[in-house]
Amino acid sequence: MRKILFLLLTFGILAPESVSAGEDPGRDAFVQESRAIVKAFAGKLKGALQAAIQEGGPVHAIPVCNAEAPEIAREMSQPAGRTVGRTSHKIRNPGNAPDEWEASVLDEFLRRAAAGEKLGAMERVELVESNGRRTYRYMKAIPTGEICLSCHGSSIGPELKATIDSRYLEDQATGFALGELRGAFTITKTSAN
Ligand code: HEC
Repeated sequence: MRKILFLLLTFGILAPESVSAGEDPGRDAFVQESRAIVKAFAGKLKGALQAAIQEGGPVHAIPVCNAEAPEIAREMSQPAGRTVGRTSHKIRNPGNAPDEWEASVLDEFLRRAAAGEKLGAMERVELVESNGRRTYRYMKAIPTGEICLSCHGSSIGPELKATIDSRYLEDQATGFALGELRGAFTITKTSAN
């Protein structure tokens, strides 16, 4: 039992602080880099959203989420070996569906939030090794902010609702309350050593 506990702690599964400074400098550098990427991604997206909503209301801002978010994600998925994206336990675009690891981390975020942990600094990092390749994975929780509610909240205007429904046939991303977990930024970095 003690050994299992030790292993769980080693892999960060039970660690109270899921991203703590480790003995792996590669991992530490990856975490720093990931935090910077998320900050830039979130900032760009929010700026673009705010500008579009101000210009023509939320309906006008749909293309920002639809086209600009993936575009920003693509831009940030440089250099080769890095991918940056957004995912959620309740998705709007099926292209953003979580893989198995991401789904388990989203579950973990929901549990941690239910236990009272603040979403603002909630993150998770893991090193996956297979076939001699090291893949670092990172996720950071995205809280639902005020500006998000017009398109992800409980009362969405009829014109907006129609626009969303026409583009996203199986939209699950509504009904979120202020401060709730909306999803997560997700970053993967693979290197060949
Ligand atoms: C103008 C409407 C609008 C607003 C405002 C908006 N979103 Fe979205 N959101 C969308 C659309 C449309 C998509 C689908 C984007 C795509 O096709 O990749 C989306 C997708 C997402 C996704 C990716 C996962 C998924 O469900 O496909 C996340 C995470 C997300 N939004 C979070 C937020 C957050 C956080 C805010 C507030 C800062 C926000 N959104 C504000 C319309 C909006």
